[in-house]
Amino acid sequence: MANGERHPVRATILVVDDDAGIRESFEAVLAKDYDLLFAAQGPDALRIVSTRDVNLVLLDIRMPGMDGMEVLRRIKELNEQTEVVVVTAVKSLKTAIEAIKLGASDYITKPFDTHEILSLIKRAIEKQELLKEVLYLRSEVARDHRFENLVGRNPRMQDIYDLVSRIADNNVTVLLNGESGTGKEVLARVIHQQSNRSQRPFVAVNCAAIPAELLESELFGHEKGSFTGAIATKVGKFELATGGTLFLDEVGSMRLDLQAKILRALQEREVERVGGTRTIKIDARVIAATNRDLKKAVEEGTFREDLYYRLNVVPITLPPLRQRREDIPLLVEHFIGKYNREFARKVKGFSAGATAALYHYDWPGNVRELENVIERAVALAESDETISLRELPLEISILGGDVIEDIQKAGLSLREARSHFERQYILNILEKVQWNQTEAARVLGLHRNTLAWKLQRLRIDSRAQPFSNG
Ligand SMILES: Nc1ncnc2c1ncn2[C@@H]1O[C@H](COP(=O)(O)OP(=O)(O)OP(=O)(O)O)[C@@H](O)[C@H]1O
Ligand SMILES: [Mg+2]
Repeated sequence: MANGERHPVRATILVVDDDAGIRESFEAVLAKDYDLLFAAQGPDALRIVSTRDVNLVLLDIRMPGMDGMEVLRRIKELNEQTEVVVVTAVKSLKTAIEAIKLGASDYITKPFDTHEILSLIKRAIEKQELLKEVLYLRSEVARDHRFENLVGRNPRMQDIYDLVSRIADNNVTVLLNGESGTGKEVLARVIHQQSNRSQRPFVAVNCAAIPAELLESELFGHEKGSFTGAIATKVGKFELATGGTLFLDEVGSMRLDLQAKILRALQEREVERVGGTRTIKIDARVIAATNRDLKKAVEEGTFREDLYYRLNVVPITLPPLRQRREDIPLLVEHFIGKYNREFARKVKGFSAGATAALYHYDWPGNVRELENVIERAVALAESDETISLRELPLEISILGGDVIEDIQKAGLSLREARSHFERQYILNILEKVQWNQTEAARVLGLHRNTLAWKLQRLRIDSRAQPFSNG
């Protein structure tokens, strides 16, 4: 995972030198900070590299038997990500340069300077960590989040697609608004995918999910020892997003002091790690998202006005699902396909009643809620033919049947409509609980006697067929 967990793990260094004295002096310098492995000759070194997780190899060039160059070449064949620093006598500087051509990241000349070695190794390992993160994030992007993940034909969605294709490439900061589950993160990934940064990482930070004390080091990184728990140097997300996109999710929940730091980073285009002294140039396109009204947060003093304007260069608001109901059938189809693949099923679709229920429900959790409902229904479906009302959660299935259509078609008065709805609603609940009146009364929040009275008044025969109009 691309989180902080990995960094505190001590890096492992393999020292390859035929001279026991040199091996010992490396041990004296490095044992405190790194896990060390030793090899006196090339073949041993290769065996270790192919069986152990080695971060860096300190490799003597001149060794009897298989020489350092050959070992280097083979290490790189085994695992390109293993960093190799060659150790050479001053005289063979030419060899060192050749080694770098073969993939060594640096060289040390004997006799060596302790300080120089330590900082060189530290840099090489940081570089490797960064590379790993980038590779991980890149594979994430390639695996999961393609453009077709954004479904919707509603005119407001089409306007959004138009806007996105116009702004994807010009690095402008985007602020995504919208209720929870409307697809802000999907859209952020689409923007990244469509931009000329798509080959570089998309790095997401959920500002609400990370405790405020840790968020700063998550964003900017920290130097080893800068606070209790900072066991190793950590590269911040701003840095990880170099060349790519940084997605600041739930930006509205960020503490004011951090807001100031973000603003500074965006303006100066550079950051400083916590406890660090040097500044690091950043080059990340920023996309922020929030489900809060940031303008209002500014008025209330919980969000910095200057940061608001800095982020709100291109605002995009995703409509709630209930305002684009025509997309519901498309999304349903999309998710049936997705979960058929996932659960190896062949569900074809929903019954008419279930389709009506999905259409009329208000979807407070928007597309995410719809996706969860479909996932559950596909998993529960008894046959591969159609999913019925029974497989939908109660609050949705009660909207099934054709109650709303019936009411609209019949042009009923409000009073008639209300009692028609009431009748249908109670019938649906009764069906759901297999006509157990005690249970139905509990679900409806009615006393059992009140329900019995209503059944009589609405001419519902407790032995009637469910959904019959009798
Ligand atoms: N237009 C869409 N097409 C297909 N799937 C979508 C669409 N919009 C959202 N989804 C799916 O719905 C789920 C929620 O989307 P997403 O995480 O982007 O929402 P969000 O707006 O970031 O929500 P929150 O504010 O709660 O973080 C995801 O599983 C996503 O794949
Ligand atoms: Mg989100």
